[in-house]
Amino acid sequence: MTRPLSADSPLLQPITVGAWQLPNRIWMAPLTRNRADDDGTPNALQVEYYAQRAGAGLIVSEGSQPSALGQGYPNTPGVHTDAQQEGWKRVADAVHAEGGTIVTQLMHAGRISHPDTLGGQTPVAPSAVQAAGEVFTVNGQQAFPTPRELATDELPGVAQQYADAARRAVAAGIDGIELHAANGYLLHQFLADGVNGRTDNYGGSPENRARFVVEVAKAAADAIGADRVGVRISPAHPFNDVTEDDVSVYETLVTRLDELGLAYLHVLAEADDPIVAKLRSVWTRTLVLNTGFGTESDRDQLEDLIGSGAVDAVTVGRKFIANPDLVQRWTDDAELNAPDEGSFYGGGAEGYTDYPVLH
Ligand SMILES: Cc1cc2nc3c(=O)[nH]c(=O)nc-3n(C[C@H](O)[C@H](O)[C@H](O)COP(=O)(O)O)c2cc1C
Repeated sequence: MTRPLSADSPLLQPITVGAWQLPNRIWMAPLTRNRADDDGTPNALQVEYYAQRAGAGLIVSEGSQPSALGQGYPNTPGVHTDAQQEGWKRVADAVHAEGGTIVTQLMHAGRISHPDTLGGQTPVAPSAVQAAGEVFTVNGQQAFPTPRELATDELPGVAQQYADAARRAVAAGIDGIELHAANGYLLHQFLADGVNGRTDNYGGSPENRARFVVEVAKAAADAIGADRVGVRISPAHPFNDVTEDDVSVYETLVTRLDELGLAYLHVLAEADDPIVAKLRSVWTRTLVLNTGFGTESDRDQLEDLIGSGAVDAVTVGRKFIANPDLVQRWTDDAELNAPDEGSFYGGGAEGYTDYPVLH
């Protein structure tokens, strides 16, 4: 038996978040798809893909490097050249023409990269600690290299790169940015006590480990307005070989981010992880949850989470890959297309823009 959503379903309620009036609480999660041009310019495929998904309350784009050295994988988009900015303009125009709202996720991969992806350069990180495992490159899977530790006096420049990328995104007509401080990439590497071994003001205590993320958020907020900046975190999530024994850093971080007046906080965590309630009590603005990789996001669970007041909105990943019209399908309780994992990372239109819509 189907159960269409009623008009008063928590998932379908409009919400004002920072600078945006959003029509519903079902947002599209950031999803790396590796189909930008070789120079990181979003192309006609991304224009079509995002426009197809404009029914999401908010689209959070795939992770996009704020600088050449921030790139983690082949064919991810960048936000640091004029050509890339032009590409984002075409994406923004197409999403807006369909009535949608889109932010670009700024992702500096840090040590989760390889010289083959970086024109021969060594990846950078808070500390010269090699990640276990392999990374995909144009020359196939390769072991993660030992990264180069960022010097203290380099950090303001890296924060400025995020700010410049945020400025370019908004100049292109993109509605804002999300800072990727999750999933083991550069900003998460600073937060995590198992990866950050610094002895300067950016390592050690929770206040110190949170410092760089706060400085980057402030730089981005100063560039485009705090009401156009969101931040994604994944406390204690072991993805990309991150280890965190001390998650108190997240209370410190979120307290500082709240003071900046940012638009939203996006948490990747199991729905019943106590950190969600803890952060809810610290963060005074829009709280967004993604329930993580374990099982695909579930409509009824997400509806309950918003209905109970645990969170204000949710993001959905794999179901948005396979269902451009996910909001409509969930509203009608219609059958869903299944995502094809083989075409998640790289390729062309197949498994990207060719998933059918209902109407
Ligand atoms: C193909 C793929 C690419 C992803 N790329 C990103 C990314 O660029 N940035 C990010 O923060 N999370 C990324 N994620 C994680 C998703 O945003 C989301 O947290 C995950 O898919 C779980 O949500 P779901 O159950 O709704 O799919 C990716 C996940 C998948 C499956």
